[in-house]
Amino acid sequence: MRTIEWKDGTVVIIDQRKLPNEEVWLELKNSDEMAFAIKEMLVRGAPLIGVSAAYGLALAAFHSNAKTREDLMTELETAAKLLRTTRPTAVNLFWAIDRVLDVAKKTSGTKEDLAKAVVTEANKMADEDVEANKKMGAFGAQLIEDGDTILTHCNAGSLATVDYGTALGVVRGAIDAGKNVKVISCETRPRMQGAKLTCYELMRDNIDVTLISDTMVGYVMSNGLVDKVVVGADRIVRDAVLNKIGTYNVAVLAAEHGIPFYVAAPMSTMDQTKTSAEAVIEERRPTEVTNIGSERIAPQGIKVLNPAFDITPLAYVDAVITEKGILYPEILLQKT
Ligand code: MRU
Repeated sequence: MRTIEWKDGTVVIIDQRKLPNEEVWLELKNSDEMAFAIKEMLVRGAPLIGVSAAYGLALAAFHSNAKTREDLMTELETAAKLLRTTRPTAVNLFWAIDRVLDVAKKTSGTKEDLAKAVVTEANKMADEDVEANKKMGAFGAQLIEDGDTILTHCNAGSLATVDYGTALGVVRGAIDAGKNVKVISCETRPRMQGAKLTCYELMRDNIDVTLISDTMVGYVMSNGLVDKVVVGADRIVRDAVLNKIGTYNVAVLAAEHGIPFYVAAPMSTMDQTKTSAEAVIEERRPTEVTNIGSERIAPQGIKVLNPAFDITPLAYVDAVITEKGILYPEILLQKT
């Protein structure tokens, strides 16, 4: 399913906070609304966050009343500044904003030409994302055998991208290649992207999926119920993969049980400028942990930690599947 679309000067998104119970589509009209949508996770998942930010700039350019090209450029820089504050870990956000601003700076002509170039670039990035995911799916399918059960964590599917998905793109690629594949989805506390989103989109596509709580990973692995792990990534730094909190637990358990652990991510998720010690892990609000839905389950006044992502050293990663091909950590680690 396509999760984001430019339509007559608006950006149409599905409000992921409401899934799977309600499919609510919203039309965003300006970059402030887009910044809110990213921060509050109406849209989420690293590649989709990047494309959403690009569309945030497209909205700013399209609706601008700036008199001159220079004024429009200043407005874009202001919108970019706000968009950059929304979520710190997914590097795709910063990559996308830099790419659009760069195109804007290099576009000659009137402010109308510039606005048009920004919208065109955002649409191009959306289409490229789908293309990259399909390529990743085809490469990743080579690592999957007929009859495999793949465990995944969080949601790295259509809903985390423009369409098709990264980790779930590999599942779709394997199925497209004629392989019979089943999925085990971790619920992914605290925000439950696995239970809510991965299960929703796989069931929608008639792909066999079984939900487990995060605490059951060791049980299913030790009982021989998992053949491969495939997850997405929010940022791949020189020595590690940053992904949804709980990914590290899954990786360590996979190593303990001799189960291959694969990461599927586009090149836009690579950040070779940093090591894990320098990367920012987003800390989200405590109520995500103290509550389940709207119900409070922890005592008032309890101290809470709520890091949204964790760090899996490359030593636990058997391969990184990208749209350019499959990378092995030995190659990535040589660069550190
Ligand atoms: O906090 P989220 O839901 O934006 O986090 C998403 C994840 O961690 C995904 O696993 C990751 O972005 C890969 S998405 C293709």
